[in-house]
Amino acid sequence: MRVMSHPILGDLQDQKEITIYFDGKPLQVREDEPIAAALLGAGIRVFRKTKKRGESRGLFCAIGRCTDCMMTVDGVPNVRTCVTPAREGMDVRTQIGLGEWRNPCGK
Ligand code: FES
Repeated sequence: MRVMSHPILGDLQDQKEITIYFDGKPLQVREDEPIAAALLGAGIRVFRKTKKRGESRGLFCAIGRCTDCMMTVDGVPNVRTCVTPAREGMDVRTQIGLGEWRNPCGK
């Protein structure tokens, strides 16, 4: 799902790979790419479920202006993943409704 060669931007450059965790599952992604782009590159399209109806939401505006890509990242809910760069060891979780704060130590 990744654009490897673009007619204007050129070829995708080599970049360091890191590991993030999506709902506990390790994923190899490119360092500093937006979390949402990394997830789409891995074929993951559902980032959150709505509060009232539990409907699936994923990437929509991709510029940080809506709320469809919000996920819980390192225990912090409502993180806009389309404008948040991936970092080594990040814990990225599908957000259900408004999400919950989690202690990053797992306690
Ligand atoms: S997709 Fe709209 S804020 Fe991220």
